This record gives sequence, structure tokens and C-alpha cells, in this order.
Amino acid sequence: MIWIKALHIMSMVTWFAALFYLPRLFVYHAMTEDTLGHERFCVMERKLYVMMNIGMMATWTFGLWLIYLYGWEWLKSSAWLHAKLTIVLALTGYHLYCKKIVHTFKAGHNTRSHVWYRVFNEVPVLALVGIIILAVVKPF
Ligand code: HEM
Repeated sequence: MIWIKALHIMSMVTWFAALFYLPRLFVYHAMTEDTLGHERFCVMERKLYVMMNIGMMATWTFGLWLIYLYGWEWLKSSAWLHAKLTIVLALTGYHLYCKKIVHTFKAGHNTRSHVWYRVFNEVPVLALVGIIILAVVKPF
């Protein structure tokens, strides 16, 4: 059990490293005007998105594995986990939206400003604060 939890936390750190950095690349990409810079950002975004996928899938796999080990009764009575999973589902939606943005940039169709991406970049910070408090403090 504790080994699965350790793997869960390692995967979560991998996922979040990419969730923090990919939208930051969008900020700089939105400020780029030259073709060489644009192409370089496209490669970086595509490769980072692959890492982000690996982090997400591993986090989900080890998280669901933990739930399986704790059992159905534990899952039913853990209200903090229900709240945490709600945030994680929203975060998974954010992750998939990043994929759409990677494709939009690649096609040269981005219309959003770097300011928009700066705000977008803060969403995972809020999710992290909520999830960590729920997972560690377990307030309810
Ligand atoms: C992807 C879906 C996820 C599932 C199904 C899941 C499920 C779980 C479960 C069942 C535990 C064990 C809780 C315990 O031992 O009391 C756990 C622990 C933990 N999870 Fe997740 N989790 C997920 C995502 C995340 C994410 C995205 C984060 C971080 C932002 C995270 C952070 C943690 C932490 C820090 C712990 C250790 C809590 C402790 O033992 O004090 N989890 N998770």
C-alpha cells in the first residue's frame, strides 16, 4: 500500500511539473512573432504534452489502485476523496483542453494574448492547493 502511495505521489509531481510548465510555454509562444521561434515552441509543447500524459495516466492508475486496496466501504465513507476527485476530474478536463491549445498553436490559429495564457496558467495552482489540503488534512 505505501509503495503504491509513493508511486502515486511521484506520478502526481510529474503531472504537475508539466501542468505548470506547458501553459507557461503558451505564454511565451503567444508573444513569439518569428517562424523559427514558433516552430521551436511547437516541438517543445508536443514533447511536454507527452510527458504530461504519462504523469496523468500514472497518477490515475496508482490513485485508483489505492482506492481498490482500501475497498468499497472506505470509498463510500471518504467525503474528502469525493471532493478531491471532483477537482481531479476538472483538472483532467484542463489537461485535455491543453491538448486542444497545442493543436491550435501548431495550426497557426492562436488568437489569444499572452495575458490570457498567464491567467490560464494559474488554474493548476488553485487545483493543487485544493487537492493537497483535501488529501493530507482530510477536513471532512
Ligand atoms: C487521478 C486521480 C486520483 C485518485 C483516484 C487518487 C486517490 C488517492 C487515494 C485513494 C489516496 C490514499 C489516501 C489515504 O491513504 O488516506 C491518495 C493519496 C494522496 N493523493 Fe491522490 N488521487 C488522485 C489524484 C491526485 C492528485 C492529482 C494529487 C495531487 C495534486 C494527489 C495527491 C495525493 C497525496 C499527496 C496523497 C497522500 C495523502 C496522505 O497519505 O496523507 N492525488 N490519492
